[in-house]
Amino acid sequence: MMFKTKLKKYFLQKRFPLEIYVPSKKTEPNSMIQIPSAWQGLELIIEDILDRFQIGRDSCIEFGVEFGFSAVVFSNYFKNVKGVDTFSGDVHTSHKGDHYTQTKHSLASFENIKLYKSDYKDWIKQDVQQYDFAHVDIVHNYKETYECGLWAVQHSKCCIFHDTESFSEVRKAVFDIAKKTGKTGYNYPYHHGLGIIV
Ligand SMILES: C[S@@+](CC[C@H](N)C(=O)[O-])C[C@H]1O[C@@H](n2cnc3c(N)ncnc32)[C@H](O)[C@@H]1O
Repeated sequence: MMFKTKLKKYFLQKRFPLEIYVPSKKTEPNSMIQIPSAWQGLELIIEDILDRFQIGRDSCIEFGVEFGFSAVVFSNYFKNVKGVDTFSGDVHTSHKGDHYTQTKHSLASFENIKLYKSDYKDWIKQDVQQYDFAHVDIVHNYKETYECGLWAVQHSKCCIFHDTESFSEVRKAVFDIAKKTGKTGYNYPYHHGLGIIV
């Protein structure tokens, strides 16, 4: 690992300390889709997280689907997966145009995934359901990650956040949400970082 990256990781852990998550096993999900995603590699630790924290396998909600890589990973483990996205990209994604139809088409064979074209801000005003599991991977600003993440943590048993290593704003939001909710925050420091609040 390059010295600069090591230094960044060191300071992030110092400023926003989270328990380092060490998986005890790695499992390849049965079904995956072959599309490039920064999420690649994290699919191996999802079953470990679910087993470790004894998370139910009924319902999962994801904020930030894009082309569906992580949604398909979750479809291996949950009866129902809801994917919420504006499907228009954001300041941090390279794809900016409307990609709802494209994603809907490529996920058509995964019958347990339902896609919703919505801003998380509108979604969280009307959804009162409790989920087994949640995933937050939207625009990587503090305000949005905190607002969406707080709702997700309050409406699930376990919530994960992508990009805790590549965006200090996401790392800070995870740290603050864990503190506010009195839950435990973990960080898996690979594949751009995965925050886990349980
Ligand atoms: C980093 S991508 C998600 C990557 C995806 N999880 C994967 O496995 O490859 C971020 C997505 O968040 C969506 N997004 C950004 N801001 C949003 C918001 N306010 N509400 C809903 N979705 C949003 C973007 O449209 C984009 O598709």
